[in-house]
Amino acid sequence: MAKHKTTFFCQNCGTQFSKWSGQCTACHEWNTLVEEIIQKEEKRNWKQTNISKTINIPLAISEIEVNKEQRIHTQNKELDNVLGGGIVPGSVILLGGEPGIGKSTLLLQIALEMDQQVLYVSGEESQSQIKMRAERLQYKNSNCLILTETKTQNIFKNIEKIKPDILVIDSIQTLYTDQIDASPGTVSQIKETTAELIKFAKETGTPVLVIGHINKEGTIAGPKILEHMVDVVLQFEGDRNHTYRILRSQKNRFGSTAELGIYEMLGSGLREVTNPSEILINKKDSDLSGTAIAATLEGMRPLMIEVQALVSSAVYGTPQRSVTGYNLKRLNMILAVLEKRAGFRLAAKDVFLNITGGIHVADPAIDLAVVSAILSSNEDESIPQNYTFAAEIGLAGEIRPVNKIDQRISEAEKLGFDKIFISKFNKFKKEGRAIEIISVSKIEEIYALLF
Ligand code: TYD
Ligand code: MG
Repeated sequence: MAKHKTTFFCQNCGTQFSKWSGQCTACHEWNTLVEEIIQKEEKRNWKQTNISKTINIPLAISEIEVNKEQRIHTQNKELDNVLGGGIVPGSVILLGGEPGIGKSTLLLQIALEMDQQVLYVSGEESQSQIKMRAERLQYKNSNCLILTETKTQNIFKNIEKIKPDILVIDSIQTLYTDQIDASPGTVSQIKETTAELIKFAKETGTPVLVIGHINKEGTIAGPKILEHMVDVVLQFEGDRNHTYRILRSQKNRFGSTAELGIYEMLGSGLREVTNPSEILINKKDSDLSGTAIAATLEGMRPLMIEVQALVSSAVYGTPQRSVTGYNLKRLNMILAVLEKRAGFRLAAKDVFLNITGGIHVADPAIDLAVVSAILSSNEDESIPQNYTFAAEIGLAGEIRPVNKIDQRISEAEKLGFDKIFISKFNKFKKEGRAIEIISVSKIEEIYALLF
């Protein structure tokens, strides 16, 4: 019997080890090392293994022809944007996201809407399940083909006959190749099947969209190398209890990673949200205390986001601090700054903070809105709905400038806000603005202006 070469892979982070141990020394997870066969037969001479039918020859860079802007446009503008203007032929795109977030829905919807022929390969659902999902999506006429298969060799056999324009794989963790004796979803299978898909994409120029599961750290399950191998890594995120979903690009060999797509999950599939600011702000009849609107930026895209705070006397001994969509440590810092630098007595109070829409905001420009919402709730005085904020708070209680201020001001202006509060140190274009721009440098100043 031929000797099998095996190695141990951490199923969480993909690190390779020569021997087994209880804990992965790279990611410190327990019991994640699994032995996998990486080569069936004994190693052949490298000269024999490397012979291929077509040999690439080097070319001078000036001789290389580029087929510029030969992108395939999907009917989905948000996706096209995130990809930098459409799908590049021969590219491999990996879509990651939590279970149930809508990855299959997104790709099926795109497959059904496209004029090109798409082969949708699913290893997760049966053809009738997919048909049921498609019916919810209310597709009209589509030349999308559905295949349920997990063995790559069989998929490629089908492809030879069909010659689809685009291939969709749902998901990489269900695929396996008979080149390797490991079960689907293991690190070596994921690596090998991805390599086969990449080879197919590059040789035929057919783009491949691949769904990947993510592990509990939020990175794509399997080897990190997977993200290096593919051309584009997209992340589909959002709160499952809310309807909004964000499509973000983490890596893009053909465009910027700053673009982002926003969708709303409806009963009939995903709707593209072209003007996100309007839906993220709660419509209300009267002014309520404890809310403030921040002019934030997600990637390149301005977003007006509503911050809600509730400050009340602590009923139990220790005051509670709780947040959704914002960093708890940052809230604690802001409360400490308010206490120490501006003299507000908040130490004995419960503070709850909520970003509406189920979106997580990392943009520091939201700080000033957080401070204003907290002060508004503490004073029980509302902030007019036509005010908005964009500045960071420093440890000394100073109001700091933020990037791309002109873009934020323009968005606020476009949406009909009357006043925007920014840092005194932010430089901006003054001419022709319909919105009043108020520059502040300290928390006391903003307090005096608002209440
Ligand atoms: P799905 O695409 O199966 O998620 P993933 O592939 O990322 O695991 O999405 C499943 C969720 O989406 C499910 O909870 C129901 C919801 N959904 C809708 O709200 N509307 C729809 O039209 C569809 C098809 C799904
Ligand atoms: Mg799915």
